[in-house]
Amino acid sequence: MTSKGLRKIFLDFFKSQGHIIIPSSSLIPENDPTVLFTTAGMHPLVPYLLGEKHPEGNKLASCQKCIRTSDIEEVGDKTHLTFFEMLGNWSLGDPKAPDGIGSGYFKEKSIKMSYEFLTSKKYLGLDKKYLAVSVFAGNENAEFDKESYDIWKSLGFSKKRIAKLSQKSNWWGPAGQTGPCGPCTEIFYWAGDSQTIPDEFNADDDNWVEIWNNVFMEFNQVKDGNDYKLSFLKQKNVDTGMGLERVLSILNKVNDIYKTEAFSNLIFKIEQLSKKKYNESPEITKAMRIIADHLKAASFILGDDKGIAPSNIDQGYIIRRLIRRAIRYGKQLGITYELWTKEVVKIVIHDYLEQYPELQRNADFIIDQLKTEELKFKKTLSIGLKKFKKIIKNKTNGLISGKEAFNLYQTYGFPIEMTEELARENDLVVDKEDYLKEVKEHQKLSRTASAGKFKGGLSDARKETVRLHTAAHLLLAALRQVLGNNIFQKGSNITKERLRFDFSYPEKLTQEQKQKVEDLVNKAIKDDLAVKMEEMELKKAKDSGALGVFDAKYGNKVKVYTIGKDNYVFSREICGGPHVKHTGELGHFKIIKEQSSSAGVRRIKAILTHI
Ligand code: GLY
Repeated sequence: MTSKGLRKIFLDFFKSQGHIIIPSSSLIPENDPTVLFTTAGMHPLVPYLLGEKHPEGNKLASCQKCIRTSDIEEVGDKTHLTFFEMLGNWSLGDPKAPDGIGSGYFKEKSIKMSYEFLTSKKYLGLDKKYLAVSVFAGNENAEFDKESYDIWKSLGFSKKRIAKLSQKSNWWGPAGQTGPCGPCTEIFYWAGDSQTIPDEFNADDDNWVEIWNNVFMEFNQVKDGNDYKLSFLKQKNVDTGMGLERVLSILNKVNDIYKTEAFSNLIFKIEQLSKKKYNESPEITKAMRIIADHLKAASFILGDDKGIAPSNIDQGYIIRRLIRRAIRYGKQLGITYELWTKEVVKIVIHDYLEQYPELQRNADFIIDQLKTEELKFKKTLSIGLKKFKKIIKNKTNGLISGKEAFNLYQTYGFPIEMTEELARENDLVVDKEDYLKEVKEHQKLSRTASAGKFKGGLSDARKETVRLHTAAHLLLAALRQVLGNNIFQKGSNITKERLRFDFSYPEKLTQEQKQKVEDLVNKAIKDDLAVKMEEMELKKAKDSGALGVFDAKYGNKVKVYTIGKDNYVFSREICGGPHVKHTGELGHFKIIKEQSSSAGVRRIKAILTHI
């Protein structure tokens, strides 16, 4: 089975079950400042899980590209990945409605569909004797998921194969600090020796590989003072996630994600470049896995239409870490080929361009950025490593000081995580607190890159962000009036305090242009224009002049937000929402900064005052 085959069989199955197939969203969440990357298929669906109506209906399925950065350092074994694809199906509420197209479902149907897909010969045809499941055992906030337990029993699972597990393993979400969440039931497959398959399921045994998670999202985690509490969502949702590469490794009986077709061309290329074999030694296997994973992930972030390049903040910092870590392991493998990373990246683009055409569109950018970063880092890597050896040579206290770590970062471009990893390899630790003090003093690293912004809260539908989101639509319309119709949105990021908006334009805006833009937005606010939402076919939306961000991401049916009065249209955009009802709710709009974001892209930061 190939990635392509598995995507198809999964999506076809859910289509036959009345689901609409939606395209993968961007890896960079739109309008969500609290997380750096899309980490699960549910991520772009958060507004709909919270109760917004999805334009395509309430039964959806997708194959979503995802990045998880929490365990970059774990990559190197046979299961961890930074970039992966997640197959998923959703029901957005309404489990009681008649079970036809358009109506939702909940636990029973969800579990039964998963079971059918996994075991039926028509689909994956896995033998049930290799399967086990877990359900939520209950805690002081939510009760034992007896319903799921009974459904699995009715499907013939013995008590020994249904584990009742705690919140740590069987509660999913929220993806950030707040948002939809709920108990989940996970499905495991015995990937060990078939002769030794135990009767009883033990989730701590690595041979049981988790392959699919069904989350029953009926709760919303909200902030409660300094704490969090659960409330019921307006609707009962189903959210499932199945890691494509993991399932491939099961279907192909390789028990190593990197031995699947999702990595075969990449590993082959790395073998060629290093003149070594994947299985030659554990160190070589580990290095090849790291290189393959990291350069794949870096390519996907660079190729995500947002023009994000390696830098010292946010997503750019992650790209930098990934590329530099890959280069360090390339050095370990003895790759001497000049500017080799781009050769690996070309394979990523080739392997994935059919499913993710954005990689092809951005191929030149991806390759250029790889070249530049590799040149930059190579210049200092060898001397930096020598410097590191010197630092550790006479250590007696086992500690690398903040100053030393900061010097490695600033002078030799070693991301702190890399220094920490090198330290660990030599039984040392970095004094992180001391390092962060150094950083603060030098004001070099952005707060987000080092402080782990990735753990923020999702679904930021607070009043402030909704207002700023509507203001962003007004801003785009105003920019087009002032600068012309070749202005397009390149990205946006909204916090409670401000909006940040990137758009295509080659030059700095003059004071006069900025003033005009501000005035136009404020006039639109003063006129108290209505904000109306309509659902329509994508083609109709485009024909009606609605602006979109990136074509490839939309499904066949979309939501269009029009801001205007009577027949007058000030702004019309394809957008998931939510928005305010009238622009009069926005207060006063003010541009606080206009600067370059990347080549040909300008960035505006703006706020709303006097609300
Ligand atoms: N959202 C379900 C999962 O990631 O497992």
